[in-house]
Amino acid sequence: MKIINKKIINDVGGVKIIQLDIASGDIASKALAGQFVMLMVNDKGERIPLTLVNTDKSRGTVSLIFQEAGFTTQSLGKLNSGDALYSLVGPLGHPTEIKRYGRVILVGGGVGIAEILPVARALKGAGNHITTILGSRNKELLILETELKSASDQIYIMTDDGSYGRKGFTTDMLKELLSKDKYDLIYSVGPIPMMKRVVLVSREYNTKILVSLNALMVDATGMCGCCRVSVFGEVKFSCVDGPDFDGAGVDWEELEKRNKVYSVQEKHICNLFSAS
Ligand code: FES
Repeated sequence: MKIINKKIINDVGGVKIIQLDIASGDIASKALAGQFVMLMVNDKGERIPLTLVNTDKSRGTVSLIFQEAGFTTQSLGKLNSGDALYSLVGPLGHPTEIKRYGRVILVGGGVGIAEILPVARALKGAGNHITTILGSRNKELLILETELKSASDQIYIMTDDGSYGRKGFTTDMLKELLSKDKYDLIYSVGPIPMMKRVVLVSREYNTKILVSLNALMVDATGMCGCCRVSVFGEVKFSCVDGPDFDGAGVDWEELEKRNKVYSVQEKHICNLFSAS
């Protein structure tokens, strides 16, 4: 799987958000909004899931956006145009249910904004009115504003430090909108604490909420149990039952705990390789 193009979207203090366009005609021809791929950087590496941000059927490419966070994303970030991935499997997961809901609010935070883009385009294409709220820590970390502007009827930017758009959290704007108008669906992707807060606001205003979960995955075929989440008390697997779930039913505390389970080992590996 050859990398056709690499673009550094931003680089803040050495932490990069990167877009890779990868040749894969098969995945490009089948992928739908909300689906993801599993990739391996090399034959010794772990498998990680990344959402398909864009597909170009005519070029036979798929685009992935990721932030260099752990060992594998840092290794992925070292690859360049012309390099090849060891493996790329997909499209995986259920596509987002695209239909005419009416008035939809999309809430994206951090690098989760990348996952909002294909859903915004698909929902807009289905005739929905799209209001998008993007949140980032500061102006430098904000991604895909131009692309999401053209996929939305209205867009609001929130930054934690007020360096761009309005100062505050995505949920501040969400509350403001829901208190003035009726909306038919909220769709949210981002850090778990943000999605948790979005769900609380949706409950307050009795609005349907879908979330796309980034659970830890190993095989992504429903066999290993690694991506287990509890939704309305039932065990679900993010890879084969999701990644979209009714946010009102997600056990967020359990998900948060499970996602941190390898954080010590991750830090150890990163230290080991940065020292070598
Ligand atoms: Fe193994 Fe989902 S990744 S069950």
